[in-house]
Amino acid sequence: MIGASAGLGRALAGVLAEAGHQLVITSRDVTDLDATAADLNLRTDGRVTAVPIDLRDFDPVEYRSRAIAELGGLDALFVTAGYSTQDDRGQVPDDLLQGIVGSNFTGVISLINAFLGDLRSNRAHLVATGSVAAVRARGSNSVYGASKHGLEFYCEAVRHHLSDTQSTVCLYRLGYVKTNLNFGQNLMFSAMEPAAAARQMVKGLGRRQGIVFLPKWWRLVGLALKLVPWPLYRRLDF
Ligand SMILES: NC(=O)c1ccc[n+]([C@@H]2O[C@H](COP(=O)([O-])OP(=O)(O)OC[C@H]3O[C@@H](n4cnc5c(N)ncnc54)[C@H](OP(=O)(O)O)[C@@H]3O)[C@@H](O)[C@H]2O)c1
Repeated sequence: MIGASAGLGRALAGVLAEAGHQLVITSRDVTDLDATAADLNLRTDGRVTAVPIDLRDFDPVEYRSRAIAELGGLDALFVTAGYSTQDDRGQVPDDLLQGIVGSNFTGVISLINAFLGDLRSNRAHLVATGSVAAVRARGSNSVYGASKHGLEFYCEAVRHHLSDTQSTVCLYRLGYVKTNLNFGQNLMFSAMEPAAAARQMVKGLGRRQGIVFLPKWWRLVGLALKLVPWPLYRRLDF
């Protein structure tokens, strides 16, 4: 579970640990991660080990070895880490750009790539988190949206690669979820509770879904956004 120290990832770790699963949980912040693992080990029947990495700078092969050594194999890989900032608008400093791409795209696909052999040889499931920001490009969240767009493309490629196996790939195009990611922002629509989103994602595990909106009604918003003609779209400030 990558991105498990907060928000949706922490909620997912909770749902899975409560169901008695063994987990390796990962994020950058060791303090938050250790606290999450300690809490889940105390409260649930799950066995949870914290393995911190920073997706912007890590060794994917070493990480995979450590995770497989802890777990003894792989049933599911949840990649829910992600980073966005309101400074991602127009021209952004290059280090910020690299950080957003690393946390949402290059680091994520390096990590998935390290587990591809496990996904092929076991009946295992890949679950990744995209965003409605990838539906149509806009002037704000532009590097984040581009990274999530790239992640969708890569997950589709992995789905194709694994299509002759029992393994599944699902990318959730998430609408708003009440987490740190959008704390204090004025959101256009209501936000889901992380625990509700986590329960739906666990329920969907193993279904051959591909790319799906969560909540489902965001599909209509996505469709509407795509249909807005450019002369009108260019005037929208969101
Ligand atoms: N919340 C929303 O409305 C929303 C909407 C659309 C899509 N999403 C997507 O949903 C997923 C979950 O986000 P969230 O809302 O739960 O956000 P969040 O509360 O900010 O949690 C993000 C998690 O990712 C980890 N993370 C961030 N950068 C990382 C890095 N470089 N290396 C390793 N771990 C990293 C964070 O831990 P550390 O900071 O300790 O590393 C944290 O555990 C993300 O992919 C996000 O893009 C969220």
